[in-house]
Amino acid sequence: MKFFSEENLELADVIISRYPKPRSAMIPLLHLAQEQVGWVTDDAMAEIAELVGTTSAEVLGTCSFYEMFKRHQVGTYVINICATMSCALMGAEELMEHAERRLGVKAGGTTADGMFTIEGAECQAACTEAPCLQVNYRHRYRVTPDEFDSIIDELSSTDHNVPDHGVLSQIRQHIPEDRFVGAVPPGDVASAPVWMHDEGVD
Ligand code: FES
Repeated sequence: MKFFSEENLELADVIISRYPKPRSAMIPLLHLAQEQVGWVTDDAMAEIAELVGTTSAEVLGTCSFYEMFKRHQVGTYVINICATMSCALMGAEELMEHAERRLGVKAGGTTADGMFTIEGAECQAACTEAPCLQVNYRHRYRVTPDEFDSIIDELSSTDHNVPDHGVLSQIRQHIPEDRFVGAVPPGDVASAPVWMHDEGVD
């Protein structure tokens, strides 16, 4: 069964054409698949394998390595509550308990309306601002239970700018024709590499 929409299939071809080897486009195509439906389905992985000329197993191997690729349905908003030391000391456990009560699901679960998934997470590299969480990988700092409720209220309204899960950027990357660097596939490189110091750069 075909997975990509017609529009995304065209985009997939553009993405593949940017790389010397089609297999190198696997991760951007996984992002594209996740953007289309919010997670990476088996059909998506099979189609990506076909597009880049590899096996579904290899696509699964790549996809399953990265926690940000979800291989099951998640909510429109994935909320990761940091559970590592600094956040734990500053109330992350209580925050998670509050989140579970407020949303009526346990960590790892998704609300019945498909809006929210809550997960425990490792350090988000903002330990001085503990306790932290991320909403679709956008940071929120020093979050109290009351602020958690405000975040949920905000996300439940239309008055926010957090895109749905899977959308990493609201601006599509576009490299104009005249800005392509003209990468040559490694197998086609015949000459010796030119190092910076050969060009007089210290
Ligand atoms: S411990 Fe939570 S951000 Fe580092």
